[in-house]
Amino acid sequence: MLTRRSFLQSLGVGAAAGAALATSPFPLGAFEPSRHGQAVGAKTALGATRANAILLNSNENAYGPLPKTMAAMQEAIGWANRYPDFDYDALIWTISDLHKIKPQQVVTGCGSTEILRVAVAAFLGPGKKLIVPTPTFEAVGEYAAATGAEIEKIPLTSSYAHDLDAMLAKAASMPSLIYICNPNNPTASLTPRKDLDGFVSQLPANSYVLIDEAYHHFATDSSDYASFLDRPVDNSRVIVARTFSKIYGMAGMRLGYGVSTIENTQRMRSFQTQDNVNMVAAQAAVAALQDTAEMQTATRRNAADRQEFFTQAGKRGLKPIPSFANFAMMDAGRPATQVMTHFKQNGILIGRRFPGMDNFVRISFGKPAEMQKFWAVWDRLGASS
Ligand SMILES: Cc1ncc(COP(=O)(O)O)c(C=O)c1O
Repeated sequence: MLTRRSFLQSLGVGAAAGAALATSPFPLGAFEPSRHGQAVGAKTALGATRANAILLNSNENAYGPLPKTMAAMQEAIGWANRYPDFDYDALIWTISDLHKIKPQQVVTGCGSTEILRVAVAAFLGPGKKLIVPTPTFEAVGEYAAATGAEIEKIPLTSSYAHDLDAMLAKAASMPSLIYICNPNNPTASLTPRKDLDGFVSQLPANSYVLIDEAYHHFATDSSDYASFLDRPVDNSRVIVARTFSKIYGMAGMRLGYGVSTIENTQRMRSFQTQDNVNMVAAQAAVAALQDTAEMQTATRRNAADRQEFFTQAGKRGLKPIPSFANFAMMDAGRPATQVMTHFKQNGILIGRRFPGMDNFVRISFGKPAEMQKFWAVWDRLGASS
């Protein structure tokens, strides 16, 4: 019989996590560096690990879902025996009302990760090219590789913006999908909207641009930033992706959406899993989108947390890359893997190493008490290395 333990052992995590749990109040040593490895480790420890650990590694909302969203989830769960048709309709109408678009222009995903996947499936394949910045959120590249498309990685500029001219130049030779992550993960940096406008206007006729606005709400106070949903352009080759995992605190509910022309969303929808949005997520999302006041409170709270992070970093002579998100990336002056290990030994998970940024660490902002512990552990870093 396949017991839970033997299943976990078949994943190669059961024994290690079990042993760690027995010996340490913070058995984070069992965790692998990837987010999914960490998630498996947390489950192995039956929640004890997750409850004790300080999770500054996945750019989640440390404060939880917005209060009315939480209430909507609790209310919704009683309908779990029904397929989510009504809930799905309500969600699509709420999104289309918000962005003043037609409902058919919306495509939903199991997280915005699914939006990236269906965009890749719809617009890439052999003889086509994905053009991505590097470093960036890597899922889109992994999906593109599976389609047989070529992948072109263009380093960010010295100010950590997308190198839009270089990206355009690479699109000239082949039908392409260009991925723009704004603000960019892992650098938290912004590519100014005026530059993006120039870029979109020069997009070759056989190319599409996928603009990932996962961190939109954290950037709205910058005059250099404007969403392509709030200020749309008249270009049928623009696709925008949004998520409920960040400002709305619903990462575990898995919900995102894409917006484009009806023709594009139809193409994307044909690769979507049917009924990919569960009913609780749909109802929670409707509540979240309707609650502008709480969303703004969360945005202001993040701005304060970000300010405090930069103040503390400054006191230590650190210079994080200017952040337009709910996390920051900074040069730790030593290998990221070493810093991560030090934090893990102290019950704190931080972001992993990214290509070409060996000495940088990515820190998601936690609650003030969590960040106090973070800085206390940081201050012991010198001693441990
Ligand atoms: C830039 C970016 N896009 C997309 C995602 C995927 O988010 P989700 O699938 O939870 O919506 C993430 C997650 O961290 C991200 O950083």
